[in-house]
Amino acid sequence: MALRLGDEAPNFTAETTEGTINFHEWLGNSWGILFSHPKDFTPVCTTELGTVAKITPEFQKRGVKVIAVSVDPLDSHKGWISDINETQKTTMNYPIIADPDKKVANLYDMIHPNALDNMTVRSVFVIGPDKKIKLTLTYPASCGRNFDELLRVVDSLQLTSKYKVATPANWKDGEDCIITPAVNDAEAKTLFPKGFKTIKPYLRYTPQPNK
Ligand code: BEZ
Repeated sequence: MALRLGDEAPNFTAETTEGTINFHEWLGNSWGILFSHPKDFTPVCTTELGTVAKITPEFQKRGVKVIAVSVDPLDSHKGWISDINETQKTTMNYPIIADPDKKVANLYDMIHPNALDNMTVRSVFVIGPDKKIKLTLTYPASCGRNFDELLRVVDSLQLTSKYKVATPANWKDGEDCIITPAVNDAEAKTLFPKGFKTIKPYLRYTPQPNK
């Protein structure tokens, strides 16, 4: 069965471009992002992995470890890295899992035969420090992902794990948040000392509480 939000992220041991890892041990107490690409030495994937390498400091700032996976073997990943570095003007700085026996791909249901036979689609799993799946994305091979969006959702997930707020459409770090409906006005006055604005009884905005 497909993994759902709140499920434990399955553990595995795998070869990566940075050595063998036990996934849960590698994650430690960090947030994590496991993302799959269809195939090494393909154009969109090359731009994606290079883009992630460039914004790794942003993930580090948020305490998020990033790891890629495809069903290509280790020597393919190692050969491809120099192309990523050359064409994307970056230096690869996170591991790529080699999954030729499709162990990880099957555990995470990353192979969708009606979309891409025997290759992983563009899956993303955001995993919390409790090893639970907090967010998933699935894109087809033709559509490279927006990794700024991934930073944005990490900001939202981390904020809403600590405060009783949700984030509205197109929210960005620093903007007003929505007070969750389970919080009544009396509680909101205590929880959100900066105040709140009531548009409807169910739609109340407050300044981002951790700013
Ligand atoms: C790409 O990354 O460009 C790609 C990968 C697999 C199938 C089609 C395109």
